[in-house]
Amino acid sequence: MRNVLRTLLCTLAMVPIATAADGTAVTFNRDVAPIIFASCTSCHRAGEVAPFPLQSYDDCATRGKQIASVVESRYMPPWKAEPGHGEFHGSRRLTEEQIKTIRKWVDGGKVEGDSKDLPPAPKFPDGWMLGTPDLVLKMPEPFTVPAEGRDVYRNFVIPTGVTEDKHVTAVEYRPSNRRVVHHAIFFLDNSGAARKKDAADKAPGFTSFGGPGFIPSGGLGGWAPGAFPRFLPDGTGQLLRKNADLVVQTHFHPTGKEEQEQSTIGIYFAKKTPEKTIVGLTLRNRNIDIPPGEKNYRISASQTLPVDTDLLGITPHAHLVCREMKATATLPDGSKKPLIWIKDWDFNWQEQYLYAKPLQLPAGTKLDMEYVYDNSDENIRNPSNPPKRVRHGEQTTDEMALLFLQAVPREVKDAGRLRMAALGGLMGNRAGAKTMRAAAAASCWKRCRSALTRTAMES
Ligand code: HEC
Repeated sequence: MRNVLRTLLCTLAMVPIATAADGTAVTFNRDVAPIIFASCTSCHRAGEVAPFPLQSYDDCATRGKQIASVVESRYMPPWKAEPGHGEFHGSRRLTEEQIKTIRKWVDGGKVEGDSKDLPPAPKFPDGWMLGTPDLVLKMPEPFTVPAEGRDVYRNFVIPTGVTEDKHVTAVEYRPSNRRVVHHAIFFLDNSGAARKKDAADKAPGFTSFGGPGFIPSGGLGGWAPGAFPRFLPDGTGQLLRKNADLVVQTHFHPTGKEEQEQSTIGIYFAKKTPEKTIVGLTLRNRNIDIPPGEKNYRISASQTLPVDTDLLGITPHAHLVCREMKATATLPDGSKKPLIWIKDWDFNWQEQYLYAKPLQLPAGTKLDMEYVYDNSDENIRNPSNPPKRVRHGEQTTDEMALLFLQAVPREVKDAGRLRMAALGGLMGNRAGAKTMRAAAAASCWKRCRSALTRTAMES
């Protein structure tokens, strides 16, 4: 009835009703619900991170204008990677067509449409999405997130109790309270440094911003709202050394009332030792010194692959003043492959982008990153007002230029050389460049490893 009335009113007022491609009016049930269910409801539902549900006609109709405007500005759904610069699993980007459909629906009077057209509500499994994990770890005690104030970055140390080296093929993260958890990053520590920091702080875990506050012995990826866990490609795995501690760095966003969080992490192991272990490549540049007011400060870094390599994923990282990030691979024949482009970096939406298909890069490919920083007061995310000089560091008001790449050598025999190049990239200085050249020239991996590791730790 409501729709009949609305249609009548629109006709009387000579307001044209927006039409779908087939000439009929755009309706919620037929045209808009499929977009909302597929792209919004995973976060906009009870108990999830978004502040209100988008699950029904009424949910959407009451916020019609706001919805049209956030999808047009691409503020929602959060997905920062530009199309045409790497193809990724789970892209949340809406098409121009979908955005137009939402706009037409709102401008046309938010018609509900025929209930027969409404697709079934999306289902979100309650249990483990990937099946029963091989190892379930839980924060030993709940952490209390204050009602208000700044966002909290807290590292929780959980001993894995693993007594032999294992290879991890997937991690499934389950916050107990999704309303407060903005994202989580999983570090590994075999040095005991994280335990010490934890012990020195009375509340559960310890605080750090950006990095974990110690040099991790490895990593197991991360989690952001709306992301679904997935297994690594067959035959690959991430090394989890025996006796490692898992350190979960959690970013909390206060909700207005005190909240408790006690996350559970499910870990899946490879049934047999995978042929290929993932090598984490890092491009970084610490020479950051941005004068206040500088709007277009550029930082770059590069690394050349010593062996044929498959890239599985890419994770750019910077803090609040960074605006734009671009990474490109230049192949030995001079052709270029875009790796990722983020035009509107937002520290709150750090994503681990996994390529839909591994990118095959031959030996001699040069990886380049270029980040742009805006340290003026026009940058709404600038943590200092008026702007201050910004240098490299771990604090909220410092900056970083880091690019993590998940790589596997095409040939198993090349693993050592790729790992050595990885270490060189991590050092990101002259010693690093020398290491990378050595990696390109020969395979002294075993001989040099401990010396190199020491240098990496110290730099
Ligand atoms: C990955 C999780 C996620 C997805 C997917 C998502 N949202 Fe959101 N949305 C959030 C969070 C978190 C907030 C609140 C924090 C913020 O504004 O960044 C939010 C806020 C909003 C707001 C309020 C913005 C404001 O200015 O206050 C609107 C409107 C919105 N979302 C609409 C949508 C629509 C429409 C979609 C799908 C096309 C969508 N969202 C998909 C997480 C998500």
